[in-house]
Amino acid sequence: MGKKRVFITREIPESGLHSLREECDVKVNPHARNLSQQELMEMSKGAAGLICLLSDKIDREFIESHPELKVIANYAVGYNNIDVQAATENNVKVANGPGVLTEATADLTWSLLLAAARRIVESDNYVRQGKFSGWGPKLLRGHSVYGKTIGIIGFGHIGQAVGKRARGFGMNILYNKRNPLSAKQESELGAEFREIPNLLQEADFITINAPLNDGTYSLLGKAEFELMKKTAVLVNTGRGKIIKEEELVAALQKKEIAAAGLDVYENEPAITPELLKLDNVVLTPHTGSSTYQARSELAELAAKNILAGLKGEEMPSSLN
Ligand code: GLV
Repeated sequence: MGKKRVFITREIPESGLHSLREECDVKVNPHARNLSQQELMEMSKGAAGLICLLSDKIDREFIESHPELKVIANYAVGYNNIDVQAATENNVKVANGPGVLTEATADLTWSLLLAAARRIVESDNYVRQGKFSGWGPKLLRGHSVYGKTIGIIGFGHIGQAVGKRARGFGMNILYNKRNPLSAKQESELGAEFREIPNLLQEADFITINAPLNDGTYSLLGKAEFELMKKTAVLVNTGRGKIIKEEELVAALQKKEIAAAGLDVYENEPAITPELLKLDNVVLTPHTGSSTYQARSELAELAAKNILAGLKGEEMPSSLN
């Protein structure tokens, strides 16, 4: 019997490819770009295993038109791009990539928080443009971080890793989560639960580390920005559709909140054009987990999930 076919929708680090190539017939998208939906549909034909990206829409139509498909491994922790229900109904196993990118994503959340609070990108531009003519008492003042209050929306692995870092900054830690933690867990993490409106009112720094689902879709818009402090800094490394982007732009323009650090966008890769004109935002291209270590480990995990799933064995991070 021939080797089972695995299609990978974009080249991933070698660490994941080695083991797959030994046991399977592996095809990788040959282009240095993401695939269109039509290309995705066509190039995946006949594959029993699929490693896909968070930007690949694996909906019911895709699943039902690929009857050979047995296992899908999302090269991401978030899996809102996959219709897991449709996969289950069609006996397709699905896995995501939890754990391996937790610390990298928490690090980027903090990079954006500090960069937005202390105006790092603006300062860098200022120096490069030759404007630095001497130390100034009011030059590029930002917002103090140490000892302030952080409000973390989404307090799973990544949110908690953001919280652990906040302890080093002597911060008061508030969190919101669909299912609040036990009192014991809260005291171990030094975090207190708040309903969203209270969290928004009390926090100096608000980070979004939640998955996109029915409860978080369009969670923050005009009314929520109005609740925040004028000095608040908002960071989103979760999913863009959690924020109404045009309403965020308006809040930043009117200085209803002080600044934002964004790694994800409502309609990415498209970005609301006005966002690009603002000084009080720091923008990264959905690179929350993009460290050499995290992306290699994510590749290995995806490969392990595919190999286990194709053999009918228990997958390390199965979702169904
Ligand atoms: C990235 O956004 C991920 O979900 O892994």
